[in-house]
Amino acid sequence: MTSTALPGGTFTMADDLTVTRVGYGAMQLAGPGVFGPPADRDAAVAVLREVVELGITHIDTSDYYGPHVTNQIIKEALHPYPDDLRIVTKVGSVRDAQGGWPRALAPEQLRQAVHDNLTNLGLDALDVVNLRVGGLDRPEPGSIAEPFSALAQLQREGLVKHLGLSTVNAEQIAEAQSIAPVVCVQNFYNIAHREDDALVDSLAAQGIAYVPYFPLGGFSPLQSEELDAVATRLDTTPLAVALAWLLRRSPNILLIPGTSSVAHLRENVAGAGLTIPEEELAALDRIAG
Ligand SMILES: NC(=O)c1ccc[n+]([C@@H]2O[C@H](COP(=O)([O-])OP(=O)(O)OC[C@H]3O[C@@H](n4cnc5c(N)ncnc54)[C@H](OP(=O)(O)O)[C@@H]3O)[C@@H](O)[C@H]2O)c1
Repeated sequence: MTSTALPGGTFTMADDLTVTRVGYGAMQLAGPGVFGPPADRDAAVAVLREVVELGITHIDTSDYYGPHVTNQIIKEALHPYPDDLRIVTKVGSVRDAQGGWPRALAPEQLRQAVHDNLTNLGLDALDVVNLRVGGLDRPEPGSIAEPFSALAQLQREGLVKHLGLSTVNAEQIAEAQSIAPVVCVQNFYNIAHREDDALVDSLAAQGIAYVPYFPLGGFSPLQSEELDAVATRLDTTPLAVALAWLLRRSPNILLIPGTSSVAHLRENVAGAGLTIPEEELAALDRIAG
């Protein structure tokens, strides 16, 4: 499959930053709890090679997955990278010895994180770096000017091409935009969790990508009788409906479903291409409660 054949086509975030709307989230490639190496490294390599084979040009990662492990596997599997591949990473946490995710938002910690990403991915400059703030799945109000300014400085130094944000509210996005352009926002959103509906639309109006994490429910897979019923009527799976609904929801939504399985990856790409009939949309709206 070529990128033009992938469901949803492409989205352009900046002149040198066009990606397929169907992307891939690499978080599942580390060990259990996103900590340590995977049980089967060869399988992880195979998933990444299949990502490129399918024509996907957007991989989402972080050096704190593993930590370091996921980026090292991406490099092993795909370096030297295809010209059209864009790797989006995120900074703002580190991992402690227990696998916890303590914040690391001081300027020197962000600089270290960018250098760790460059080293482990084998790059001279990162395509996009998201500043990850907020809680597990929702923003926490407050200024992000200091850490975002630190990333803007790294962008001026040429180590980072574009900047994004993760787990932020509208005020924090506006604050960041007063410092440097923001090309994408990565927040928790899926067919059952639509608190960001207004934000999705306002970012679409600005040409900014909205990249939902946990598109399939993440650590708590999506479970809904309504979703199951629609999937049964359409002779497909609930996860296919969830992905196709996101692609249909707004043209600035980019998919980064995570999987450690080549079979699931193929299922997800095919599922995103499902056409959801108009008459099913009301039933799907009821899922959000
Ligand atoms: N910015 C942030 O704070 C943040 C937070 C979380 C995630 N992320 C990014 O978002 C990406 C997506 O989130 P996620 O991976 O946590 O959650 P997700 O995409 O919602 O769900 C992933 C889970 O679904 C399973 N799965 C995937 N495809 C499947 C299929 N076809 N059939 C059955 N099960 C399937 C995976 O298991 P298998 O491995 O068995 O397929 C995995 O357990 C991550 O990879 C990461 O890049 C960002």
